[in-house]
This record gives sequence, C-alpha cells and structure tokens, in this order.
Amino acid sequence: MRRARTGGDDRKILRQDGNLFQRSGEGHEKIGTIKFNANLKQKTQVGIIGAGPAGLTLALLLHRATIDCVILEYRSREYVESRVRAGLLEQNTVDLLHELGVANRLNKEGLRHRGVYLSFDEQRIRIPFDELTGGRCITIYGQQEVLKDQVQACIEKGIEILFEAEVTEINGVATNSSSLVYRQNDEQHVLSCDFVAGCDGFHGIARTSLPNNIYNEFRKDYPFSWLGILAHAKPSSDELVYAYHQRGFALHSLRSETVSRLYIQVDNDDRLENWSDDKIWNELSLRLQTEGFHLNTGAIFEKAITPMRSFMIDNLQYGRLFLAGDAAHIVPPTGGKGLNLAVADIKWLAGALIHFYKHNKEDQLQGYTANALRRVWRAQDFSNFMTYLFHKQAAHGSFEYNLQKSKFDYIRLSKAYATTIAENYVGLKDI
Ligand code: APR
Ligand code: PHB
Repeated sequence: MRRARTGGDDRKILRQDGNLFQRSGEGHEKIGTIKFNANLKQKTQVGIIGAGPAGLTLALLLHRATIDCVILEYRSREYVESRVRAGLLEQNTVDLLHELGVANRLNKEGLRHRGVYLSFDEQRIRIPFDELTGGRCITIYGQQEVLKDQVQACIEKGIEILFEAEVTEINGVATNSSSLVYRQNDEQHVLSCDFVAGCDGFHGIARTSLPNNIYNEFRKDYPFSWLGILAHAKPSSDELVYAYHQRGFALHSLRSETVSRLYIQVDNDDRLENWSDDKIWNELSLRLQTEGFHLNTGAIFEKAITPMRSFMIDNLQYGRLFLAGDAAHIVPPTGGKGLNLAVADIKWLAGALIHFYKHNKEDQLQGYTANALRRVWRAQDFSNFMTYLFHKQAAHGSFEYNLQKSKFDYIRLSKAYATTIAENYVGLKDI
C-alpha cells in the first residue's frame, strides 16, 4: 500500500527575501510570502522535526560534534515530558545516554534487570540475560524520564528547541536549499537548513512528504490491543513477567519500588469504560498467576488502550530529508523496542551527518537507509515473534495454541533458543 503525498514540496523554492515561488512549466510563479522573525534563528545546518527520543538524541550527538541544529516541536514542553510511553532501555541505549552525559538520574533511578520471566499456562521460566549474553542487561526507566533529562541537557547546552512550533511544509530537499515552514504563536516562520531530520513520529509530516514512488510500505494490524495501567503498587516481581494465559496476554512491568506498570490483552473494539479498576486487577491476577505469586494492587493513576501494529517503509531518505524513529517504523510493544530503535537509527544518521561535515562526503548518508534497516527488520521480527508467542489468538487446544506451547517448551529445554531470545531482547550489539 502506498500513501498519498500530502506534505512538503520540492517544487517550491523559498528566496532569501521571504518570497515563496513554485515551479510552473519552465518558470516560477510567486505563491506567497513568509514572515521572518528576527528573534528566531533563520538558518541552521540540520533542521530537526520532533522532540521525541529520536530528535533529542540527534540534537545532542550533533551538538557534541559542533554541528548546529534547531528542533521544532509541535507540542508543549509539559506535554512532551509527561506523555506516558514504554520504559525499557536496551544496553546500547543506556551506553549512548551515558556517553552523551545525560545518565545521572538514569544511574540513580533506572532499574537494571539481569533477566526476564516468561510464563505459559501458569508455568514460569526465567531467561538470565547476563549469563546468556556475556553480561548484557536491560534497564527500566520511563521514556518520559529519558525525555526530561534530554530536554534539560539540550537547554543547558544552548541547543534551540522551539516548542509549540508545528512544521507545516518541508521544501527543497531534492535541491541543496532545504527549508522548513512552521507555525508558532499563530505566525508562520521559515528555517533554512542543509539537511532535514524527520523525527516527527508516526503521525508526522516527514513521511507524508516523501514522493510515494520511492518506497514500499509494510503494515500489519494485530487483532488485539493492550490496556496499560500505571499504579501506586509495590511491584509484585523484581523482573518483568510476560504471560500467555487462556484468558489472554498479560505483562507485569514496573517503574520504581512503589509504581507498577501492567498491561493486558483486550479486543480492538474494547473501551476503557468496560474496565473498572477492580476488574483490571482481577484479570491481571488471573493471567499472571503462577505458584507462589501474589499480585500487589494499589491506586491506578493512568489507564489507556493502545492498538498493536507493525509498520515500516523501506527508504528513509529523499534527497536531504532523512527519517528516523516512529516516523519510519512502528513495532508492537511486546519486545520493548520502540525507543531503542529510534536511538539506533539516530546513531547511524548522526554518524553520517558528522562524516559529511568533516569530510564533505555523502557516502555514509547514502548508506543510512541500508544500515538502519538491518536493525529495524531484526526488531520487527523479534517484536512479531514475541507478540505471537504470548497473545491469545485462537482457542485453547487449537493448532496455533499448540505451536505457541511447543515454542515455550523449546525455550525451556534449549539454551540455544533461550540465548536467541536473550540477545534480541537486550539488543544485538553490532547490527
Ligand atoms: N511539527 C513539529 N513536531 C511534530 C510534527 C510537526 N509537524 N509532527 C509530529 N511532531 C512531534 C510530536 O509532537 C512528537 O513529540 O514529533 C515528536 C515525535 O516523537 P515520538 O512520537 O516520540 O517519536 P520518536 O522520537 O521517533 O520516538 C519513538 O516514542 O512513540 C514512542 O514507542 C515509541 O518509543 C518509541 C519512541
Ligand atoms: C513498559 O515497562 O512499559 C514495557 C516493558 C516491556 C514491554 C513493553 C512495555 O515489552
């Protein structure tokens, strides 16, 4: 399936005086004027759309290499910093946050997990990551906490982030004079740049600005969703628990010694109104049940239903526009890969941009798509595998159920299979 093109336009040219022209036939027709605000920066090397994990990590890496950038973010700082998302950091992500000097709070508050529990029909096994992967682990630390640390660091370093600035057009990326048109405080502005980084998430403008004949799109919508809660409840397990149960999937995660994060599989057309707090706790208790397990409950302070989707495109570049993170791919959350993939894309993109400014060579930029997609496909496969392994798809005793059970038995019996899961879960080092 291909998307209609609705966003920017490389036929548009913005002149220094603010006049906007469009190519028509052999000539150019003036189609408008854009106001320049003298208080705002009008030119930068890399214009970044979006202050999510992708955009902020890119800004910090570029700044460290003395490359100038500006982040344009549609939402307010408060909104960005309080949006509840997943919270599983791969070893690679933690290492990069350390390297960027934004890991002080992560060091204190992040919870390092050296294994994970997998449960099937109330039988539980543990996968010891450190033993199977040469000491690699995951860290639990909420995505919004990562963002707070990164925003703070950007501000301290003088990296310009414009909040409540919505990019409405991406122009000229097929030429060497790219620009972003954005709206802030009901005024339209323009930012000229050498490169545009589309770090604007699944619903952003960057992907819709690609000509629709330069990429293939892959999409899978799953026939179930997750109802997720945050609760003031002491975690009932020291490590995460993924559970297949005849009643459906459940996941026990946590945020701190006093906050639990839990999820259950629900139907796609289910609604929050159908789920009282008591009903949620009761369902979690049934689905997470194993011998000796007791579920701690408490006040629920966040509740949401999220659909499950695999999505990606296979070209992340159009001229001087590069896509990264959710703008280019979505994975179902069962492998905890979303944020980690965004950061992994950015490592390639930042490296390629730094290489360009240092050596005036585009070879690494041209290799960006192929390099980033290797990890994206691996994460797509692993997230899809975990999703099908743990979600109820068909009746107990069905063919699908028996395949799931057989896989689970195999993980229990085979160190090789358990190692495959462990190394994908903590994140492959070099891919
Ligand atoms: N102009 C400016 N900003 C925009 C625009 C626009 N036209 N469209 C979207 N944005 C902003 C959004 O408001 C959002 O803050 O881009 C940001 C994209 O951030 P994320 O959605 O967090 O995407 P990304 O940085 O790729 O991070 C991926 O976040 O969605 C989770 O689970 C996902 O963990 C994964 C990670
Ligand atoms: C979370 O803690 O929010 C979390 C953990 C693991 C997942 C998904 C979400 O697979």
